[in-house]
Amino acid sequence: MAAKTKASPGSRSDAKDPAPHPIATADEVAAAYEDTKLAQVLYHDWEAQTYDDKWSISFDRRCIDYARDRFVAITGRPEPWPYARALELGAGTGFFSLNLKQAGVLDEVHVTDLSPGMVEAAKRNAEMLGFSVSGRVADAERIPYDDNTFDVVVGHAVIHHIPDVEAAFREMLRVLKPGGRFVIAGEPTTIGDWYARRLGRVTWKAATALTKLPPLREKWAKAQEELDESSRAAALEAIVDLHTFDPTELAAMAERAGAVDVQTRTEELTAALLGWPVRTFEAAVKPGALGWNWAMFAYGSWRRLSALDGVLAKVVPAQFFYNVGITGVKPG
Ligand SMILES: C[S@@+](CC[C@H](N)C(=O)[O-])C[C@H]1O[C@@H](n2cnc3c(N)ncnc32)[C@H](O)[C@@H]1O
Repeated sequence: MAAKTKASPGSRSDAKDPAPHPIATADEVAAAYEDTKLAQVLYHDWEAQTYDDKWSISFDRRCIDYARDRFVAITGRPEPWPYARALELGAGTGFFSLNLKQAGVLDEVHVTDLSPGMVEAAKRNAEMLGFSVSGRVADAERIPYDDNTFDVVVGHAVIHHIPDVEAAFREMLRVLKPGGRFVIAGEPTTIGDWYARRLGRVTWKAATALTKLPPLREKWAKAQEELDESSRAAALEAIVDLHTFDPTELAAMAERAGAVDVQTRTEELTAALLGWPVRTFEAAVKPGALGWNWAMFAYGSWRRLSALDGVLAKVVPAQFFYNVGITGVKPG
């Protein structure tokens, strides 16, 4: 499919983006412990190479529906689709905005990320889908676009990486047109993150110990170098994950930044209690050992438990769910 590129309307600078830097030196990694933005770039440039596989990201029906359903769950579909001009912050490989575009929620898409490697990966995915998108390296605390440029700003699993989240909300509101909306999905709640991390740690220990047993080793055990690499990644991950959120405090932050019509929505309780052990188990065993039937079982179970969570949401307080999403509008 022919790749199309697009000029960036409203862009504040034509400066060339920095190149991806997937392999960090020991000195750079040491410096990253003192510099959170450097840590984000090193970690995510490295992760960009295998990110879609690691998180089972695809651009087919499964992920299109997932992205659209998150958007609808948070916003309730208040405006007609598609939004004409959309910006994604911390786009990674384009999971959220490219799937929202396929779902007909967004029209013109601009992907941005602090990591040059992620921006390249998102542009590659857009090309593969035959889309015309612009991609730029951009820090969500200082978005390099003019005021009043976009109809919608979206993000998925990004604001927990940003040191000054309120500054990022102010920037989103600045680049939105009056009446424009931001929609941020997939952020960890404080309580959800507490139980997810514990479940993940226990699963990792159990899975790596069991798969070392002689009868299981050949089929299931991951190579020691890969386990060591995962442990190093986990150490860096602890530096790049900066925040967890209480839904009420998150909404107050967006309002302080100047947003109106702010709403939060939490999702995944039993789905997260299953999902985190499942994802950790998948990462702890030999790649390819689990196969298609496992993938279908995991996805099917996640869907059924998500439906149950929809019912539980009527009685369980919002802060107990794992994911929080937020939307708000620029006044005027
Ligand atoms: C967990 S990943 C999520 C990627 C993608 N949105 C997804 O859901 O697959 C977080 C992304 O945020 C980016 N990021 C971290 N700090 C950022 C910042 N200050 N401004 C913009 N992007 C940032 C990272 O480089 C990374 O690609």
